[in-house]
This record gives sequence, C-alpha cells and structure tokens, in this order.
Amino acid sequence: MAARVPIGVLASGSGTNLQALIDACGEPDYPATIAVVISNRRDAFALERARRAGIPAVHVPRFRKRPRSEHDAAMVEVLREHGVRWVCLAGYMLLVTPTLLDAFPDRVLNIHPALLPSFRGLHAQQQALDAGVRITGATVHFVTPGMDEGPIICQGAVPVRPDDDLERLRARILQVEHRLYPLAVRQAVEGRLRLDGGRVRVDARPGEDNALWGG
Ligand code: GAR
Repeated sequence: MAARVPIGVLASGSGTNLQALIDACGEPDYPATIAVVISNRRDAFALERARRAGIPAVHVPRFRKRPRSEHDAAMVEVLREHGVRWVCLAGYMLLVTPTLLDAFPDRVLNIHPALLPSFRGLHAQQQALDAGVRITGATVHFVTPGMDEGPIICQGAVPVRPDDDLERLRARILQVEHRLYPLAVRQAVEGRLRLDGGRVRVDARPGEDNALWGG
C-alpha cells in the first residue's frame, strides 16, 4: 500500500468524529493517518482520545484579545511541524481564517450536523427541530471563508421522529456523521475529489455512495 497521508484534526469538544477517524485510520487499508490533533480547549475530551491512541495532542489556546488569524497561524505552525497534508475540522467550534485556509488551499474539510445549505451555524440540530423539518442530517464539505458554505462532498439524511428531542436527534445524526467523515477523508487523500466551480466531482469507487441514509 502507498504511504498513508498525514492529516491533522481540529476539535473543540468530545471528539466522537475524531474517534471515528482514529478507528478508520486503524484499518489496514485506510489511506490516511492522523499526525496531530489540536484543540482550542485544554479540557476537550478529543485531546484525551488522541493521547489514548498515541497521537500527538496539542492545546493551542485562543487569546481573546488577539486577532483570530494569530491563533490560526499558531495552529498552522503545529500542523506543518507534523507534516500534515489535509486538515479536518471535527466539532471545531471557532471560525477559521484565511491564514489557515491559505496554508492548506482546498485541503480543509468540515463536518456539520445538518443538510447544508440548511441550518448553518450553531445549534443546527435545534434549528431543524424548530423548523419542523421531517428530514435533516449531516454534511462534509470543503471549508471556505464563509460559515458552513463550502462545496459539499457527501451527505447523510436522518429522519426527524415525532418523539425526537434534541439529544435523541443529535445522537442519530452523529451516527451518520461517523460514517460520512471517514468516507470523505478517504476520497480526499486519494485525490478523488475535484472542485468544479462550487461543486465537488467525486471519482467514486464501486459500492461507495456519497448520499447516505441514517436511521
Ligand atoms: C458534531 O455534531 C459536529 O457535526 C458538530 O459538532 C459536533 C461535534 O461532535 N460541528 C458543528 O456544529 C460545526 N458547525 P464530536 O465532538 O463528538 O465530534
């Protein structure tokens, strides 16, 4: 097998998407390896997940009175030190700036808990409940300077059940997220995603589907 492509993961919270990527990278034929995990929060459980998996875990604090670009520059330094080729935002709750995007052009991915372009921004699952939609889901997309706006790579649909509350819906969306991100990262590092204007062309393998269905 060709050498695995080093990726960096940025996470602010519990890191279940990070865990899905750690697990995928543990498979013998997976084409990526996680070179470093970075969090803006010292107590993020994502950092603990990284340590348990033997992956360098780095806290890069965000200093409130300094420009966001300085924080991103500090992260770029860490990502470069670890030879990262692709950057995955996995529950990373700060907006990234052109400082990071320009350092990894068309190589920054994000996962969002809604079927974009619906329900951008924070509390996407609550937005879906409030809107009364019958189907929501999750999206992996390329990151652009706008919030949750970049070209879409893959999506998973999740029905909203009549008895759903926020926790139940969030949990079922996460299940589909954990299938989506490893798929998108595989396609990205294998060079099978081509940006075509605002759209992504996927050179899909037999059996691969960039439209998933969750329960
Ligand atoms: C996930 O649902 C992810 O899609 C969301 O945060 C959660 C992180 O969970 N991201 C966003 O809302 C970004 N706009 P995790 O820490 O368990 O992976």
